[in-house]
Amino acid sequence: MEAVRKSVTKTFGILTAGGDCPGLNAAIRGVCRAAYDRYGMTIVGIANGYRGLIDEDVRILRPVDFSGILTRGGTILGTSREKPFKAQNTDFNIGEDKVAAIKKNYQKLNLDCLVVLGGNGTNTTGYLLAQEGLNVLGLPKTIDNDIVGTDRTFGFHSALAIGTEAIDRLHSTAQSHSRIIVIELMGHKAGWLALYAGVAGGGDVILIPEIPYDIKAIGRHLAERARTGRAFSIVVVAEGALSAEEARMEKKERKKYRAESPSTGYRVAKEIAAETGMETRATVLGYVQRGGIPSASDRVLATSLGTAAAELLARGEYGRMVALTGNEIGSVNLSVPAGKVKSVPPDHYMIDTAISVGTCMGA
Ligand code: F6P
Repeated sequence: MEAVRKSVTKTFGILTAGGDCPGLNAAIRGVCRAAYDRYGMTIVGIANGYRGLIDEDVRILRPVDFSGILTRGGTILGTSREKPFKAQNTDFNIGEDKVAAIKKNYQKLNLDCLVVLGGNGTNTTGYLLAQEGLNVLGLPKTIDNDIVGTDRTFGFHSALAIGTEAIDRLHSTAQSHSRIIVIELMGHKAGWLALYAGVAGGGDVILIPEIPYDIKAIGRHLAERARTGRAFSIVVVAEGALSAEEARMEKKERKKYRAESPSTGYRVAKEIAAETGMETRATVLGYVQRGGIPSASDRVLATSLGTAAAELLARGEYGRMVALTGNEIGSVNLSVPAGKVKSVPPDHYMIDTAISVGTCMGA
């Protein structure tokens, strides 16, 4: 057996925050295995994201806790959307400022570093805590793939496979019934998932938040397909997709308008039916996209990012988010993802790929 190596970090806390995704457990295992086996670090598992650190809901993780979890969906630590820097001093059970409670518990638990696995919000909070003097390391997870500083987030590939399979299944029923079927995929601010699943599943129309759509252009595209013998169509819609009309609205007005329909997919289906007169149905895939086992690709990415985080812990290189750049695993300063969303750039090659195979991008 390999001798235990020297490490700057002796004890660290680990938490998962924000929406869950496949690959979180693989990443936890990656960090913990390397940190424990190679460096003998003490690992404090924090329950339910930042909430667990505020409430001191913690337990020491031992190998039995992170063994056999590589393939499991969800997160063994639990998660929450707690944002400690938002709405401080409100609805707080111990009558104390949330950030102050985090700082106090960080000291009390003798942590040398806090490892946070999450999306934009989680890594932004990590950055803000680093500004408050805590040592923090971030790992990029989300099915949305919208974190600045990494080429890919774990969770995305698994959700892409689920979204693609759903489109495949809708294809055959749409064809049998000569219907338009709209499928809504997650992606509130960024359209990566809808774009990639749309291309993988051969969507006839793909609508993403980055390209406000014109219902008339969609209608023309669907009518042309019908005229040339393809009476069915698949329309892939990101939950954050919006019309050109909505894009022109003030934020408040848009929020009110959007609250009037149950979801983007149903609204788009209604608009298409009104515009074309064709029989149209909608399917919202919802949380199915976030559940279940991670894909092989996500397991590999999450494991590599996890073990890379353990190496940063060992060297005492804090204030960073581990990241994938090309084929290399490295890290970026936590300020890089903080407060940002990685949208699909208008000149991204995948948009041109979609258009080149005859897909309408809504404009
Ligand atoms: O985790 C990101 C995400 O999947 C988004 O695509 C979606 O808008 C959001 O989570 C919804 O999650 P929840 O309902 O859990 O807040």
